[in-house]
Order: sequence, then C-alpha cells, then structure tokens
Amino acid sequence: MPAGLPADEHGSCGPMAPTRSVTRLTLRRLLRGVVYVGVLILAACWSERTPVAGPTPPRTPLPSPSAGWRDDVPRARADAVEGSKYYARYCSQCHGDFGAGDGPGAALLKPPPTNFRDAAYMRAQTPAWYYRAITNGIPGTAMAPWDPRLDAQARWDTAFYVWSLATPPGSVARGESTYVQRCAPCHGIEGAGVPATRLDDPARVRESRATVAAGVRQVHPEVVPADESDLETVVEFVSTFLYEPDRSEKGRR
Ligand code: HEC
Ligand code: HEC
Repeated sequence: MPAGLPADEHGSCGPMAPTRSVTRLTLRRLLRGVVYVGVLILAACWSERTPVAGPTPPRTPLPSPSAGWRDDVPRARADAVEGSKYYARYCSQCHGDFGAGDGPGAALLKPPPTNFRDAAYMRAQTPAWYYRAITNGIPGTAMAPWDPRLDAQARWDTAFYVWSLATPPGSVARGESTYVQRCAPCHGIEGAGVPATRLDDPARVRESRATVAAGVRQVHPEVVPADESDLETVVEFVSTFLYEPDRSEKGRR
C-alpha cells in the first residue's frame, strides 16, 4: 500500500477485494454524500440566522429573557470603565465626548450618530443589541463594524459603556439603597436570591430598562416604590448585576 494513505480508504480496493467490500465502499460514499449535503443545509440555515449584511437591523430590541437565547454575545461581566477608554479613542469623534451624538464628525452624517443621552430612547435599548450593532455595524450608515478591530471583550465593555451613558448621575447609588431595603430580602444582595428568576442571569442583557420595570410591575406590583423615579433607579442598580458601571460619571449632567 502506498505510504501516507490510510488503510481504511484503500485497503479494500486491491484486485482481490470481495464484492461485499465494494458494496460497503459504495455505501460509505453514499453516506459521505448524505453527510455532505446535511452540512450544506446546516450551513445555509446558519448563515440565514447570522446578520452579516442585508437590511438594517431593527432599532427596537428583541423581546427578552432566556427564551431564544443564542450564544452570540459574551457571557462575561462587562466593565464600563474599560469601555470608556475605547469609546474616547474610537467613538467620540462621531458620538460626542459624552455620548450626545455631537462629535466633530457628526454634522455631516445622515443618519446622524445616535444620541446615547436620550433617556426616553435609551430606555428601550438593550446591551445585547448594542453589542451586535458595534460588532456588525449598521449597513447604510456611518456606523462601521468593529469586529475584528476591537476584540469581543472590548466590544462588550464598550457596548455597556454607551448603553449606560443614559444613566443619570447618582442613580445607581440611589437605586442600591432602595434595592437593599425593598428587594434584597427576596432577591438577595447580589441578585441571586430567587433561584428561578435570577436578576444576575447573563441572558438579561437582552432586556431593556423598560422591560425590567414592566416585569417588576407585572410580577409584584406591591413592591413598586410609590415614586416612579425610585423604580427607574432600582432598575439602574439591578443592571449592575451584569456590568461594572463607570462610577466616576465624568461629564454627566
Ligand atoms: C464615523 C462615525 C461613527 C463612529 C466612529 C462610530 N459610530 Fe456608532 N453610529 C454612527 C451612526 C451614524 C449611527 C446611527 C446609525 C443609525 O441611525 O441607524 C451609529 C450607531 C451606533 C449604535 C447603535 C445605536 C442605536 O441606538 O441604534 C451603537 C451601539 C454605536 N453606534 C456604537 C458605537 C461605538 C461603541 C463606536 C466606537 C467603537 C462607534 N459607534 C463609532 C456613527 C459612528
Ligand atoms: C416578597 C419577595 C420579593 C420582593 C420583596 C421582590 N421580589 Fe422581585 N420577584 C420575586 C419572585 C418570587 C419573582 C419571580 C416571580 C415569577 O417569575 O413569577 C420575582 C421576579 C422579579 C423580576 C423578574 C420579572 C420578570 O421579568 O419576569 C424582577 C426584575 C424583580 N423581581 C425585581 C424586583 C425588584 C426591583 C424588587 C424591589 C423593588 C423586587 N423584585 C422585590 C420576589 C420578590
């Protein structure tokens, strides 16, 4: 047998090979064909689900929790302080020093860069969608894909940084004290107290502030603070189970 050729490929092809082996070989070829076609179909399905090019991704986030969770965002806890460094370097020229969409390059752009300080708009956005927008870019706009210029963790940190730019100054600290009093008795100081509904579940990166607030109201309206703004600050604090906020809050108004 020639060197370098595996025995199972060529051992039965000799002049003395019995018919049974030939049949087995044909079967094997057939099987290989079936597997090959299967792989092609799988590949086609996969590429259909991966948003690479094509129409602009939706601006409104997908409805959340773990249902339909796909492994397309990192599971690691994000660090907005790290993200702020990438932002200053790569993003602020369009999105503005403090995220108001007013960078020096912004005036010429259509559509204009997103204003991450617009609280009403940001209330409906999710960290997971922001990660995808940063990773893939937004076709037809000046927003370019940052994969692979920034690695996955850098994109993750930056996604949370821009997403948290709408967090009003001091709200995380205020939300924390409300949470400790009104929520921690059940949910635990780190959000893991209700095992079936962990507030630190990484899948919650697909939830917007609006979704979390609506969930609190729906599940246990009796715990909702009387003052609407207290619920908003608790929601800001709850999101810190998923990421490290930039507590310096520099430049916030
Ligand atoms: C050349 C200008 C430019 C630069 C640089 C830029 N962006 Fe953008 N970005 C845009 C524009 C324009 C849009 C708005 C697209 C739209 O309206 O759909 C956008 C949209 C986004 C969105 C989606 C926001 C939303 O609510 O839909 C995110 C997230 C984002 N940018 C993050 C970043 C990050 C992070 C960086 C740096 C790594 C960055 N951008 C760098 C121009 C830029
Ligand atoms: C008396 C115990 C208790 C208290 C107090 C409590 N929770 Fe809950 N919470 C639960 C339980 C139990 C669930 C899960 C119920 C379910 O999924 O049906 C839940 C679910 C949730 C959810 C998930 C809702 C969803 O989307 O499914 C959020 C978010 C939440 N709580 C936030 C809070 C916040 C914020 C506070 C304080 C303001 C709070 N909870 C106070 C027991 C409590």
